[in-house]
Amino acid sequence: MNKLFSLVLWYSAISLTHATLITDIQGTTFLSPLAGQTVSDVTGVVTAKGDEGFYISGTPSSDVRVSNGLFIFTESTSILDKVAVGDMVSVSGVVTEFASTSDPEESDIKGTEIDDPTVVVQSSGHTVAPIVIGTGNRIPPTQALSALDVGPQGWLSVPNNVSQVDKVNPTLVPADYGMDFWSSLEGQLVTVTSPVSVAFPDSFAEFWVVGDWPVTGLNSRGGLSITLGPDGIPDANPEAVIIGDPLDGTTNPVVSLGVTLSDITGVVQYQFGFYYILPLTAPKVLTTPPDTVPPTNITADITDICIVTFGDYNVDNFSPTDPQLPVVANQIVTHLLTPDIIFLQEIQDNDGPTDDGVVSSNVTLSNLISAIASLSGVTYDFVVIDPVNDEDGGETGGNIRQAYLYRSEKINLVPGSPAGTATEAISVSSSSGVPKLSLNPGRIDPSNAAWVDSRKPLAAEWQTNGGATLFTVNLHLESKDGSSSTQGNARPPVNSPVAKRTSQVELVADFVQSILDIDSDANILVAGDCNEYLETATVFASLTDIMFELDVLTDVPPVERYTYVFDQNSEQLDHAFVSTALSNRETAIQHIHVNNWMANINDRASDHDPTVGKIRLC
Ligand SMILES: *[C@@H]1O[C@H](CO)[C@@H](O)[C@H](O)[C@H]1NC(C)=O
Ligand SMILES: *[C@@H]1O[C@H](CO)[C@@H](O)[C@H](O)[C@H]1NC(C)=O
Ligand SMILES: *[C@@H]1O[C@H](CO)[C@@H](O)[C@H](O)[C@H]1NC(C)=O
Repeated sequence: MNKLFSLVLWYSAISLTHATLITDIQGTTFLSPLAGQTVSDVTGVVTAKGDEGFYISGTPSSDVRVSNGLFIFTESTSILDKVAVGDMVSVSGVVTEFASTSDPEESDIKGTEIDDPTVVVQSSGHTVAPIVIGTGNRIPPTQALSALDVGPQGWLSVPNNVSQVDKVNPTLVPADYGMDFWSSLEGQLVTVTSPVSVAFPDSFAEFWVVGDWPVTGLNSRGGLSITLGPDGIPDANPEAVIIGDPLDGTTNPVVSLGVTLSDITGVVQYQFGFYYILPLTAPKVLTTPPDTVPPTNITADITDICIVTFGDYNVDNFSPTDPQLPVVANQIVTHLLTPDIIFLQEIQDNDGPTDDGVVSSNVTLSNLISAIASLSGVTYDFVVIDPVNDEDGGETGGNIRQAYLYRSEKINLVPGSPAGTATEAISVSSSSGVPKLSLNPGRIDPSNAAWVDSRKPLAAEWQTNGGATLFTVNLHLESKDGSSSTQGNARPPVNSPVAKRTSQVELVADFVQSILDIDSDANILVAGDCNEYLETATVFASLTDIMFELDVLTDVPPVERYTYVFDQNSEQLDHAFVSTALSNRETAIQHIHVNNWMANINDRASDHDPTVGKIRLC
């Protein structure tokens, strides 16, 4: 008590000599109210030191919005050499809002720091207790990132980038918004107890964790899935935080989904699009969950003329000589259990990424089929339409495209229509009240502007040996490249190119509707990599108006709906939609986490997990 009283007196004395408090610099908003001003006698205890400066902690505020931590930017070795953790220092310099990148796609907000400092060490041997997140009042919110994420889908609302944090500079509401929560701790020393990683590391060995605090969207593996919150607004998983490069030069461990780690103490720093914790030293891995993945329990008798099992798998820039080829073949056999028909995406041409005009993928597909056959005795056939060279996006020269593998002893293309070319548009006509495709297989409206530099959907009509028919569309919608970071300046974050993806879905929905117009009872299955979560509802509206997404239809627990892990989120980019006729019969779907449950990111055969489903045609 006595000690605290004297501390208060001591700080009051400093303020009489025009000292500036760290809390005055940090304020209650994202940007410093003193930005651009020269300040003097900013005092605090050094909590952490790196190559580019050090962090100090001053007298705390009773207002949780106001941080009492601050970064002092300097690369001067003479300053860095004289300053040690535990020193009480007095700093003068310029309050600066610094963006770690000028790349507009990174859409950084700025971090508050003191630049051009002069530093006086006043005394040594002080200690600062870190703020333990998850106790007392410092518990991160679990739903929203920012008050600026307005719209019915919160952070996934369209339009996005309707405002920017640095223009509005909102007053922090740490209890409600994740960015505000982490901003209210900017520059502070914090501890995360019992961290669990919720993703693989990025290429800089940085990784996302949640600590010992309440979370929502937790899946059975320990990751955080994108789900809808209690208010129906998509949950942005703001309770996860990214752990950056350790300040002492140690190297972060190899982590994966569900790995538990030793406690992490570090400083909160905004950089490269996110609020980071920069650990004082690298944590240690305590436990790694087993990477044994059970095979699917979705199977069907190959002689059953009504039930069809299907696989759906984005095999990630798959070329004929790819080391991942035998791994994918083994997954199809041992985990997907050789389904009757497989929707593949990202099949490359016969010489992979060599950009020499080759577009055929028959060697790529034949190599995969041979590898599956030698493991299982099951010999698939394939259906594909070669794209026009370099017209469909993806890795340069790879000419990625969708293809089907199918088991001809069970199911075959309906004969009587020629196979389409890359540029021919498929159409549907009525043959005595039965929908008939002009091309089989064929591509949907390939010259439409929505498909420029993107994969055209591959449509086909099939029949089982018993004569039951099925229309399919194999999709690979435009990727999210160019999107801004979830904790970036643009609010809601830029979802690139959401208008184009929406148009792509609309063209697929138009095609499906043209079949339903002739036969409202038609069996139709649309599946593939949509590069979008169902929670971005506007993108899928045209399709979900007329079809049923299988995870929703079959009540897969929302937290288990994921095929991809990116930043802090386990998310579902790969979807299957069925027509009303199919929805009224037996259906099933399972995502098989053969890739995203690996212990090491390099052990994945693809960045996507495959899916197995089942439908009943008759
Ligand atoms: C968001 O909009 C602002 C204002 O129009 C613009 O300056 C900025 O580049 C946009 N951000 C991104 C990431 O597109
Ligand atoms: C298959 O496994 C899922 C869990 O992944 C379970 O919900 C479902 O009931 C199982 N189905 C069968 C037919 O065993
Ligand atoms: C691929 O197609 C070419 C041209 O039709 C043919 O000569 C070759 O034998 C095919 N290769 C395989 C493995 O099917």
